[in-house]
Amino acid sequence: MPNATFHFPPDFLWGVATAPHQVEGNNTNNQWWAWEQQEGRIAEGHTSGLACDWWEHAEVDFDQAAAMGLNALRLGVEWSRVEVAPGQIDTAALDRYCEMLQGLRERGIEPMVTLHHFSDPLWLTEQGGWLHPNVVALFTRYVEQVVRALGEFTTLWCTINEPNVYTYGGYIGGMFPPGQNDSRVGFAVLRNMLRAHAAAYNRIHRLQEDARVGLAHNMRFFDPVRPRHPLDWLAAWVRDLGFNQTTIKAVWDGWWVPPVALGPAFPLRRTLDWFGLNYYTRDLVQFDHQAKGDFFAQSSHDPEAEILDGDYGELYPKGMFRALKQLARMNIPIYVTENGIPDSDDDQRPRALLLHVHQMWRALQDNVPVKGYYHWTLTDNFEWAEGWTLPFGLIELDLETQQRTLRPSADLYAAIAKGDALTPELLDAYAPELRDVILPG
Ligand code: FCB
Repeated sequence: MPNATFHFPPDFLWGVATAPHQVEGNNTNNQWWAWEQQEGRIAEGHTSGLACDWWEHAEVDFDQAAAMGLNALRLGVEWSRVEVAPGQIDTAALDRYCEMLQGLRERGIEPMVTLHHFSDPLWLTEQGGWLHPNVVALFTRYVEQVVRALGEFTTLWCTINEPNVYTYGGYIGGMFPPGQNDSRVGFAVLRNMLRAHAAAYNRIHRLQEDARVGLAHNMRFFDPVRPRHPLDWLAAWVRDLGFNQTTIKAVWDGWWVPPVALGPAFPLRRTLDWFGLNYYTRDLVQFDHQAKGDFFAQSSHDPEAEILDGDYGELYPKGMFRALKQLARMNIPIYVTENGIPDSDDDQRPRALLLHVHQMWRALQDNVPVKGYYHWTLTDNFEWAEGWTLPFGLIELDLETQQRTLRPSADLYAAIAKGDALTPELLDAYAPELRDVILPG
């Protein structure tokens, strides 16, 4: 029987990713909280509520992460807690974040700090949100406060999480606040977010000499249903351009490309020390001349593919390899800042985890500079418009009692992290059906 162990570098970061609004609880001062109170906005009328109670007890989960042998954790700072009203800073909130980062350090866990992850202070929303004419300056002013306060504990900063998903959800698809369906407005929001990223990049470097600043970008694959059909191919290309490439072109190459805009974006050029890849799934795309609002395309799944719970999409691990290979052209460190699946009974997650880690290993063999992997997520959390219906946790959360129960995947991930390797023994123990896939012959 063929046997091989897939080794990772000893300094590889094995982490988990979280976002403040999804875990902290009682984030009453942002636009998501307000949105959750409106009828019909969130699946099954759920609200974030106490979430994972991190504002009071994040350390419970830090202990879990440490016990699993993790050496990295991505968490966010909530703008609406830090800047409670325009220009008004809550120093007690900043102290709490310092305490969290120190707590991670004490457990041998390196923090990555996200400065914006979908949630905006209500006062900003009331003034137009990311369409506010001064939003770039407002964001950098807040970032400066955070970096001054937390800079002692971290040098690894993620400016903004998924500007493309924030824009799509809020202004094109309409399932996120403010629930609009106007791509022209959406592209204006996206441009401001990317400008704010660049301004934050410069500001952080001015404040901290050894800062490493990046952005977390959601990459989704769009493949033509009929690969040789020029219109399907075109429809897939347009989606890829609009969703994936525009952000990269702006913050790496310094160009606005359609459909977001057209022309130079020089101040944004090369504003990345590392790239954060959030990878989940892919769509198949077919041209449809009637789907004008959807850029003339319809999405579907490969009928052969394994579909994830909650119709979240195809299990498509190869996309991890394809994305990493594409990003290698930048020749900067890459972190997989998010990857995971919703799966309450954990009957797919061990397989998904092994397959994605294997694809990441393949990219490393091709010299793609992947430096770390942050699984989404540690403990089940509030999944935006899907409420509590999509449990992404390695650890199951009982929302009523706050009790945590490890899923088998938590043990599997701990074993990978502790051994810096994917071994045949792990395959046999957690997903024996993968032997033929990962160790053929
Ligand atoms: C990503 C978000 C993250 C989480 C996962 C499942 O798009 O960044 O907050 O919701 O999806």
